[in-house]
Order: sequence, then C-alpha cells, then structure tokens
Amino acid sequence: MGKDVIIALDFPSAQEVFAFLDKFDGEQRKPFVKIGMELFYAEGAAVVREVKRRGHKVFLDLKLHDIPNTVKRSMAVLSALDADMCNLHAGGGIAMMKAALEGLTRADGTRPLLIAVTQLTSTGEEVMHRELWIDRPLDQTVMHYASNAALAGLDGVVCSPLEADKVHSVCGKDFLTVTPGIRFDDASKGDQVRVTTPAKARELGSDYIVVGRPVTAAADPVAAYRRCVSEFCDG
Ligand code: C5P
Repeated sequence: MGKDVIIALDFPSAQEVFAFLDKFDGEQRKPFVKIGMELFYAEGAAVVREVKRRGHKVFLDLKLHDIPNTVKRSMAVLSALDADMCNLHAGGGIAMMKAALEGLTRADGTRPLLIAVTQLTSTGEEVMHRELWIDRPLDQTVMHYASNAALAGLDGVVCSPLEADKVHSVCGKDFLTVTPGIRFDDASKGDQVRVTTPAKARELGSDYIVVGRPVTAAADPVAAYRRCVSEFCDG
C-alpha cells in the first residue's frame, strides 16, 4: 500500500476550504484531504461532493460511536458520498465495528477504508483510570483496542508515528497507521506535544501522515505540501 500525505482541512467554512484548495489547481498530485466534524456539521454533504468533484480523495474524520445499527446506516450514507476513508471509535466495540464495515460496503463490493480511533490523545492515563474506570495502562489499552479493530476487519488505526511500529507488530504489517502530530524540524509545535517530522514518520513506519497547520498555515501551502510528499512518500 502506497504512503500518502493527508491535509487536515480544519477550516470553519466551505469558502475558506475552496480558497485554500484553489492554490493546488495546477498540481498534478491532488492532495488527499481530511474533513472533520466542524466543517461537516457547518457545510454538510455538499462540501464533500465538491471536494470530490475537484479530484481529491477524502478522509471523513467523523469518529462515529453509536449502536451498531445506527452506525451501519450512517456509514452507508458516508460511503454513498464516495468517501475514501472513514473512522469510528473502537470503544464502540467489535459488533459496532463489524456493522460499520457492512454499512460502508457498496453494492459493487468496494468500500472506503475504515480506521479506528483507540483512545483520544486528549485522554490521559489518570482520566482513564479515575473517570472511565479503565484500570489497564494506557499503552496496553490502545493496543488492545487496535487489536479489536483488526479482529473486526478494520483497515487500521489513528495513532502517533511513535506507536506505528508497535501497532504493526500487534496487528500485522498491512494494518494501516494514520498518524497526526507532524511538524517540520524547523517549525514550532503549536499545541501538539509529541511531534515527528514527515521523514521520521516514514522511518517509523507510518502509512499515512495527517498534516494540518504546517501546510494550511504555511506562507506557501503548495511548497509545504510538496515538502511533506518528498520527505514522507519519496523518502
Ligand atoms: O494542525 P495539526 O497538524 O496539528 O492538525 C492535526 C490534525 O489531526 C487535526 O485535524 C487534529 O484534530 C487531528 N488529530 C490530532 N491528534 C489526534 C487525532 C487527530 O492532531 N490524536
């Protein structure tokens, strides 16, 4: 499976998204992009259709978590939008993850990739123990959720590049690791704590990197995107 760079379109409106994507008009390689809850809730399916029409692959980062039947039916809607990657919370359990895969599978047998969120990076071990009553260490919990996702037939997980190797050793080398927390080595970290460069993410075995501000807030976003591609995909 080829490695790719996914740009997080963390903009509040479709207008800003299209102004940003217009910069890539002349590019041969149309970036794979991520649409999250803020943009999707503000602009709905129309923004996904337009981004697809412009030739981009789309990761719909909507993190579904509900009863299996609701997730199955909702995933069918996202699949009909021609999403290329979707995600959910592994905490919804194996039955929910299997139902999601059923919902995503189109009549012709194709489907978007399905990726699980294990524990949110905003959830620390202390909160997990005291609030959620999950007694196991955080890293074990993350790997257990990842192996549940693999058992359910999912394609991979969102994780740190620093965890990619472990995920591959627990879930198999073909199980995808989609990794945010990417910064160039000459840039500030912003609010991310543990960061990795695109080149380092490649070395650590990430399959996809998710890059937001280092591209969206760059003085020259196209150059920043190309730099990600050359460091991560081309090595
Ligand atoms: O701007 P930045 O590169 O930090 O954006 C990273 C993107 O990846 C954002 O859309 C963020 O919500 C997402 N993400 C993350 N850490 C996670 C999961 C998702 O940064 N653990």
